[in-house]
Amino acid sequence: MSAANSPRPAQARAGSALVGSVRVPGDKSISHRALLLGGLARGETRVEGLLEGEDVLRTADAMRAMGAHVERISSGDWHVRGNGVGALLQPRETLDFGNAGTGVRLMMGLAAGHGLTVTFDGDASLRKRPMGRILTPLKLMGARVLDCAEGERLPLTLAGPQDVIPIRYRLPVASAQVKSAVLLAGLDCAGETSVIEPEATRDHTERMLRHFGARVDAVEAEEGRVITLKGRPDLVGRDLFVPADPSSAAFPLVAALIVPGSRVRLEAVMVNPTRAGLLATLQEMGAAIVRENEREVGGEPVCDLVVTSGTLKGVEVPAERAPSMIDEYPVLAVAAAFAEGDTVMRGLSELRVKESDRLAAVAAGLAANGVRHTIDGDDLIVHGGGHVAGGGTVETHLDHRIAMAFLVMGLASRQPVTVDDATMIATSFPAFTSLMRGLGAEIGVSGT
Ligand code: S3P
Repeated sequence: MSAANSPRPAQARAGSALVGSVRVPGDKSISHRALLLGGLARGETRVEGLLEGEDVLRTADAMRAMGAHVERISSGDWHVRGNGVGALLQPRETLDFGNAGTGVRLMMGLAAGHGLTVTFDGDASLRKRPMGRILTPLKLMGARVLDCAEGERLPLTLAGPQDVIPIRYRLPVASAQVKSAVLLAGLDCAGETSVIEPEATRDHTERMLRHFGARVDAVEAEEGRVITLKGRPDLVGRDLFVPADPSSAAFPLVAALIVPGSRVRLEAVMVNPTRAGLLATLQEMGAAIVRENEREVGGEPVCDLVVTSGTLKGVEVPAERAPSMIDEYPVLAVAAAFAEGDTVMRGLSELRVKESDRLAAVAAGLAANGVRHTIDGDDLIVHGGGHVAGGGTVETHLDHRIAMAFLVMGLASRQPVTVDDATMIATSFPAFTSLMRGLGAEIGVSGT
């Protein structure tokens, strides 16, 4: 998906209650990692439930360009084969990651750590996002930036070192992408690579590295969690199951809470504690969400979520919770708009460097639909009044989550809500519109 695709406005309006049982697509974070590590590991990895969104497909192409065998067998069912740590090939062309921040940042670590020289690029949104946070630790590991757009942005060419220098790196921002890039860069390193995270971020890279046979230790210390990877592991192909993405489940979940009379079951949603901040927050707001069939699948905790509509009340969301729900703030702001009272969301600086400046995009979308709110530094306060006027058009700035969040708003607002472009939804949740319509939602997309 790129800015070159012509925009398709979409509109959501209030209609009947949402009812049914659905399974949202596989987790995006895990899907990227499955292709990266499966394409590196010796032998075959069979992946079930892979997210076939545009972002993940870019990672599949990049792994192919570096010599991995990546094959789609049927929907969500993929076979991947690699040649072991140290055996990636130099890609011949620029690796274009489209809209995918996770794909490009993790791949920078993997490629640089394998001594490759690679040019990375992306769409207009990705070209605006900061890459210095990845380049800084990679340079400490011996990588060189040969060419780079102003402000350490894409397009850029990165040359990995012959011998990777083992480092102990303290994350200056709570970012799983930075942590993962450093760990992946440490794979073909003779020594040990450590990352210290003062605040816990999603731990899928650590879990999956272990699943493929690497030694990754995580210890709690005074300075934070210290994660250490022993270099040059023998990664061996494994079967993998990708559970449903909690960041995608968030959209039908909030929709079911705010559309009166709704009752929706979301099947097999991953509830890893490093991703569960939205569930905790919504429950504090009074949401009726019941966990059923709790189990562990492929090393990740999973359950069905049964959601019933009801009244929500405003709460305060502490800054420390942000990493565990960083992608969910746009849709939380929508839930907060329908709640009674103020919802105070603290410490949102990272929202400014996502697929769009999400703090500004959310604020503009709320304003366009008559929702009172305040931005105070990095805090967002939504003054909920129990209902939303709607009737506005929201600019999505090439951001899939802004598009989905405001379509959810339109399902319960007094007037319909329009988003200027729904095409980017395909980056993470291609079946969003059809899945929501299957539950009873009234969403129209121009040209479909
Ligand atoms: C992701 C980490 C998060 C998140 C992104 C996916 C990952 O970014 O926003 O959608 O898969 O590691 P940061 O780690 O930069 O906060």
